[in-house]
Amino acid sequence: MFCPLTLLLYAAVVASRPFTIHTREYVYIGGQYIKQADGAFSDSQMYVEHLRPVRVSHPLPLVLIHGQGQTGTNWLNTPDGRPGWADFFLAKGYEVYIVDQPERGRSPWNPVFDGGIQAVSALLAAQRHTAPELFNLYPQARFHTQWIGNGTQGDPVFDAFYASQVQSLDSNSTVEAQTKGRHAGSLLLDTIGKSILVTHSQGGPIGWVIADARPSLVKAIVAIEPSGPPFVSTDIQPVGPARPFGLTDIPLEFDPPITSAADLRQRLVSNDSATTCFEQAAPVRQLATLRRIPVMMVTSEASIRAAVDPCTVRFMRQAGVSVQHIVLGDVGIRGNGHFMFMERNSDEIAAVVEEWIARQERC
Ligand SMILES: *[C@@H]1O[C@H](CO)[C@@H](O)[C@H](O)[C@H]1NC(C)=O
Ligand SMILES: *[C@@H]1O[C@H](CO)[C@@H](O)[C@H](O)[C@H]1NC(C)=O
Ligand SMILES: *[C@@H]1O[C@H](CO)[C@@H](O)[C@H](O)[C@H]1NC(C)=O
Repeated sequence: MFCPLTLLLYAAVVASRPFTIHTREYVYIGGQYIKQADGAFSDSQMYVEHLRPVRVSHPLPLVLIHGQGQTGTNWLNTPDGRPGWADFFLAKGYEVYIVDQPERGRSPWNPVFDGGIQAVSALLAAQRHTAPELFNLYPQARFHTQWIGNGTQGDPVFDAFYASQVQSLDSNSTVEAQTKGRHAGSLLLDTIGKSILVTHSQGGPIGWVIADARPSLVKAIVAIEPSGPPFVSTDIQPVGPARPFGLTDIPLEFDPPITSAADLRQRLVSNDSATTCFEQAAPVRQLATLRRIPVMMVTSEASIRAAVDPCTVRFMRQAGVSVQHIVLGDVGIRGNGHFMFMERNSDEIAAVVEEWIARQERC
């Protein structure tokens, strides 16, 4: 049961700062009518929320893109009730745009003509993300300490987090998710202008394809544990082929150009229980547009993705992309999982990200 009293207690335990005063408006972008026998239906539109602090002191806004099973609520406040990352950036003077990916949350999914959907169980969320240390399904799980509460069903913070989870386009519908994310995201940037993208997990590929479509409108990308590694899907162990274009399931611009994913030659770098890592074999192609955009990748110490991200970084650098990879454990920030931006030290991690973003603005 949801228990507001205990939640208040948790918020008091974790020293909190006040929320930032801002204005808020929303818009839907990128929809189109689909004709059916019984009339026309709007599809593919993306919900976008615009938060603006009283004093804007940074020239470029941030666009925050959540991952699988999530919506824009990820960034608003933490499940224990503290101000979230959106608020952190508002307090620093950034305008913030928060989306619900097309067909997710407040962006409608149509059962007749949209792709299949899936949901993640409470047990799976606890094992992978909020309480991996209790299950020890992967080696670094035991380092996880930063989730507030015990991270399992029945704990009020977990329950608040899990209640915010929604169904998402399933693993057979990644092309649809990325195609619609690219379309709506491109139109958003056409409207709001040059921006900085901040993506998480399955939102990672959405950020890559938006930047590939609108390179002149993306100043920089912060990718928090983006989907990876190249060409392979992994859960606790490698599962099977995925992302035939390396970072994505839909084409990116390569140099020299490709006509199909088969033009990308794969070379196995390593293969162990945690990850199967491929890079390109010769002739190595460059990511023609992404190489013009600085990228920060952030990986936490105890995340299920910790073993995977270095391979994604390796692939990107080989393809000419300038990636600064921050491994939080290496900079003294210990014990985080995949949902680091909701954990006890969420502001500490936001500060690392903000410092990098502010530096990109000046270049
Ligand atoms: C987590 O805390 C809840 C609420 O106190 C409790 O019901 C549950 O048994 C705890 N789970 C574990 C694994 O400790
Ligand atoms: C994806 O499609 C395959 C083949 O049709 C099917 O076996 C599998 O269950 C589907 N996956 C999901 C998540 O629906
Ligand atoms: C990686 O190792 C696993 C387990 O030994 C094996 O099943 C798989 O085929 C290997 N993958 C590649 C690409 O060699």
